[in-house]
Amino acid sequence: MRSTQTDIERVAADARRAVEDAIWAPSVHNTQPWRFGVAGTRITLRADPDRRLGVADPRGREMLISCGAALYTLRVALRSLGHDPVVHLLPDPDRPQLLADVDLRPGEPADEAVEREHAQVRRRHSHRGGFLAAPESGVLTGLRHAAEREGARLVQAVDVHVKGALAALTDAAEHVQRRTPAYATEIARWAPAPGTSRKDGVQQDAYPRRTPLTAPHFPARDFARGRGWGVEAAEDDTALTGLVVLLVSKGDTPADWVKSGQALQRVLLRAAAHDLSAAYHTQALQVPDLREFIRAQFCGDAYPQLLLRLGVANGEKLTSVRRPVEEVLTEEPS
Ligand SMILES: Cc1cc2nc3c(=O)[nH]c(=O)nc-3n(C[C@H](O)[C@H](O)[C@H](O)COP(=O)(O)O)c2cc1C
Repeated sequence: MRSTQTDIERVAADARRAVEDAIWAPSVHNTQPWRFGVAGTRITLRADPDRRLGVADPRGREMLISCGAALYTLRVALRSLGHDPVVHLLPDPDRPQLLADVDLRPGEPADEAVEREHAQVRRRHSHRGGFLAAPESGVLTGLRHAAEREGARLVQAVDVHVKGALAALTDAAEHVQRRTPAYATEIARWAPAPGTSRKDGVQQDAYPRRTPLTAPHFPARDFARGRGWGVEAAEDDTALTGLVVLLVSKGDTPADWVKSGQALQRVLLRAAAHDLSAAYHTQALQVPDLREFIRAQFCGDAYPQLLLRLGVANGEKLTSVRRPVEEVLTEEPS
């Protein structure tokens, strides 16, 4: 059957709407290291290496995890619009920045599960601080399945000593990064001062001024760098660590990183549907010796990609910014 001009225009409009959602994915330091192209019924996703963290992420692992999270969001958005997105991951070995070709096929109208997930895309926000409550038992099973459906695994740290060790390693990495000028300069580049007009980076409305101590305590990133920036925290003496989980993958290749990113976002959207938020502590995974130690001690034969705490947040209004879609989207006339 031939496509009419109306069909073509509808697909182009839907592709744009889906990209408008995809950019709300989480990304390391809110670097938003992605570029999208739309041509006919194909959407391409490319990594933007100018936005890679050269010091903390020289191999681009976290850049590709971030892009994977955007790819999963794109898929959900397309399904909510009644398309069936067919993804070809890393389709061209000669073009490593080309992460995915997504072909739009006609799909079913979105069901309730897709709608529920899609509704979380702009509701979800990273949390930075303690939690009021841990997730109810039972929710974790669903989150585990979400990760597995995308080819990764969620491993909960249950043992008090494992949690203690992961918190201590995070603390060690945070100290190492604060005392190393190159890391500190890089954080400063991605944590602009209040009043900035930038639409990327971790800005002062995205983190609390003070974080209550939890036990064990996982230190937050030093986005404010001692300048007193951040949102005034709600009075909160019930701050809990929440559930501590590692997202792990079987291998440690670019394909594993993109899949881990998709798994991350699938877990986060599902968690958000249960009113759960995630706090990230990836400091130790950015220090190669510490990442290797975590892998050998706590991950069996898998590779750690993210360290998260999950729980019910205290309702603080933390927000994040995004670049306008025009900056990341190229639309080719079909
Ligand atoms: C791979 C990756 C690593 C991250 N590491 C941290 C981290 O160590 N500390 C932190 O506070 N947030 C971390 N984040 C969260 C980002 O800072 C956050 O997604 C971004 O600022 C956008 O904000 P939003 O998630 O609220 O939309 C990470 C996100 C990703 C995808």
